Amino acid sequence: MSNGSLSAKISSAPSDPIFGIVEAFRADPRPEKINLAAGVYMEEDGVTPILASVREAERRLLANSTTKLYKPIGGDPVLVKLLRSLIFREPGAPFGVLPAIANEGRIEVLHTPGGTGAVRLAVELVNRLRPQAEIWVSDPTWPNHPQIADAVGVPHRSHPWTTTDVRALDLDAVLQSINAAKPGDAFIFHGACHNPTGIDPTAAQWRVIAEAVAVHSLLPILDFAYQGLGDGLVGDAASLRAFLATGCEILVAASASKNFALYDERVGALAIVAEDKEAAAAILTHAKVAIRAAWSNPPGHGGEIVAEILSDDVLRAQWEGEVTAMRERINGNRRAFVAALASEGAGDFSHLLTGRGMFSLLGLNDAQLKRLRDEQAIYLVARGRINFAGLSAVKTPIVAKAVAALLR
Ligand code: LMR
Repeated sequence: MSNGSLSAKISSAPSDPIFGIVEAFRADPRPEKINLAAGVYMEEDGVTPILASVREAERRLLANSTTKLYKPIGGDPVLVKLLRSLIFREPGAPFGVLPAIANEGRIEVLHTPGGTGAVRLAVELVNRLRPQAEIWVSDPTWPNHPQIADAVGVPHRSHPWTTTDVRALDLDAVLQSINAAKPGDAFIFHGACHNPTGIDPTAAQWRVIAEAVAVHSLLPILDFAYQGLGDGLVGDAASLRAFLATGCEILVAASASKNFALYDERVGALAIVAEDKEAAAAILTHAKVAIRAAWSNPPGHGGEIVAEILSDDVLRAQWEGEVTAMRERINGNRRAFVAALASEGAGDFSHLLTGRGMFSLLGLNDAQLKRLRDEQAIYLVARGRINFAGLSAVKTPIVAKAVAALLR
């Protein structure tokens, strides 16, 4: 190789801790294999369906679309207004009724390629607007959080999230880290359905966390990828409302991947809650510069699907019903799995019942995970992160038996 070659003297990068496992699952020829790895919704048959509301929206788009012109840098204005209504919807209020600060012009929303694009844009803004800041992430967290901070070049630190037995939130430890951070630092919180632990603060605990964040002049970044899969679309925003109540600046990284099951369409949004209208407008200009240098303008089709659904009361109601059905299936699988572990004598896993969203940690080490993969064709993520959506009436007893056997 010449010195100019890209591949001269470099070793390979590690495979992705989540999608690398999905690739290994795909390559596994064993028909009995079970995929509990990536955070995607699956039906009883293991298929990730296209929602009926999405199909209907696509049918309409096919009939009525007239152009594939570039979207504006920050996304289609109709879509971003609808996404704002979705993220900031007030409890008990009709869709479109927003907190007062929206009318004050303090909220700007940009359409990003997926939730990852939204987190990336949030971190880019931290880098541009708070160059001294460090980003704090929970331990454990979604592995892409520190990876994105590294890619942007923002230093990151981790703070404890749970008690050492990973059974409950360690609120004191979280508050100690908030105390230890320097003013201007950013904290990435999981707005709902903590990934990977499933352990969320209560609404009252969120208020305590939000108050501490505001008092210490920190910037909360809420990763809201799982909105709707914990306590519902509005209930899950208890975290966001706690921060809003303090009046602090907030960045919210939302995603339509999970709640619309639009994984490959890459629809996400970054919502910027600024101190005032002028600040919101100014931050928006920086966000647009960052976008232009990264993906230029967002992809069209997925956003058009979301806009079609959210702008039609009937279709939106149908979609909300589908979100409820996904959530209930995941919760049913969670309960069934805990019961199956108990009947296998696997020990006390009752704490999993209070977990929210797709994931919990079973606390398995790498060697145990390898045995599950090699001997049983069961695929989980590090520390035994299980995606309950991948279970079924047939798979639940198989997985519970295999896990119990490992723990004996
Ligand atoms: C996950 O955590 O499995 C999902 O959020 C998929 C991803 O992008 O990692």
